[in-house]
Amino acid sequence: MKRSEFIRSLGLSSGALMAFYCMGGLTACSSEKGDPAPDKAPGAGAKVDVSLDLNSADYSKLKTNGEFVVLKDQPVIVARKNDGTFVALAKECTHQGTTISYQAANDRFNCPAHGSNFSATGGVLNGPATAPLKQFKTEFNSSTNILRVYE
Ligand code: FES
Repeated sequence: MKRSEFIRSLGLSSGALMAFYCMGGLTACSSEKGDPAPDKAPGAGAKVDVSLDLNSADYSKLKTNGEFVVLKDQPVIVARKNDGTFVALAKECTHQGTTISYQAANDRFNCPAHGSNFSATGGVLNGPATAPLKQFKTEFNSSTNILRVYE
């Protein structure tokens, strides 16, 4: 006997059957409070707090004024300005998410996709992007060559 035939043999409508299941507290009708929000990936919302060792090959470019590094595992681009200070911004353009780069000569961040430019504090200099880039804090220990990037 098929499932639908069995249900019909009980003489119950589908609505009556659902009410029966729900009164029994079956999980199909229970609250989904424990389920993760569908739009949140694991780890989403975690705060950035990383220490970069400028003696390592991955970050040694940051020993030089005017250079920058796009972090692989963090949503951050870090630049060392021509004056030797560090700036860390969100690496994805607020227009459509393209990874930006730093232009030391103009002290600005540029998006290669459609030409948006951002100031060294993340403000929009020109669009099409309209929203600023998030800025992260930096703390450099010159004796250890460790740069902390955090929020
Ligand atoms: S994605 Fe950056 S300007 Fe369009």
